[in-house]
Amino acid sequence: MISLTVIGKGNVGTHLYNRFLEIDAVDSKWIDSRNLNSIEETDITILAVSDDAISDVSSQIENSFVVHTSGSVSMDQLQNKARKGIFYPLQSFTKGEIVDFTKIPFCVEAENTNDLKLLEQLVELLGTKSYQISSEQRKKIHLAAVFANNFTNHMYKISKDICDSNQIPFEILLPLIEETASKIKNISPGEAQTGPALRNDQKTIQKHLEMLNQQQKELYTKITESIQKHGKKL
Ligand SMILES: NC(=O)c1ccc[n+]([C@@H]2O[C@H](COP(=O)([O-])OP(=O)(O)OC[C@H]3O[C@@H](n4cnc5c(N)ncnc54)[C@H](OP(=O)(O)O)[C@@H]3O)[C@@H](O)[C@H]2O)c1
Repeated sequence: MISLTVIGKGNVGTHLYNRFLEIDAVDSKWIDSRNLNSIEETDITILAVSDDAISDVSSQIENSFVVHTSGSVSMDQLQNKARKGIFYPLQSFTKGEIVDFTKIPFCVEAENTNDLKLLEQLVELLGTKSYQISSEQRKKIHLAAVFANNFTNHMYKISKDICDSNQIPFEILLPLIEETASKIKNISPGEAQTGPALRNDQKTIQKHLEMLNQQQKELYTKITESIQKHGKKL
């Protein structure tokens, strides 16, 4: 049996606590990060608060092993006096949306082997895979995720704007979007790249530029240049 305390009632704290409640081998407690008076000692204390609050809130915790759930905050930002670690779920969480923990990779880090094993055991109980990742690597994963997730989503937004302003249903692009995301499970993104930029199809590129506003033009040009510089012609 692993005893743990989840501190924080935001997106991550809520999803984690609700999932732990379903696991018999976990005895979990839930604490509001604004009211730390009722904390008891447990095997693991999971701090799921905003990145900027991690140092301050952790400095008020006396439990023996405290981990945070952030992708971009290093382990040494934890200010508790005892042992420290990281328990970072690499997925985007929103309150009210269903989360399938079996599909979420967890990045774990700890100061000693026993604590690392304990975190790996906890991830196993969640039914998913853990990766031993250093704070330095985790920051790079977070950066890579901004490109893979946030920037890609922004491209969907522009794509939808173009559809909307031309009375085209955005759903017509969904199979293409899904196929692009699916393809890179089997071949590298470099190998999967297609389109006028890679082919250096200048006439098409010029026609596209004429249809865009200034901001979209700049983005199109920059990304086209990047594809041509780094792209691998098949
Ligand atoms: N959301 C995601 O997709 C996601 C994914 C992976 C990792 N994470 C990481 O998980 C952590 C929590 O993220 P979240 O999405 O759950 O955030 P959130 O929904 O915004 O919740 C943040 C929590 O922190 C508390 N908090 C903020 N400032 C505080 C302070 N000064 N003192 C005490 N408590 C404070 C908030 O309390 P109040 O409500 O009272 O302000 C709230 O309970 C972050 O480190 C984040 O980087 C998030």
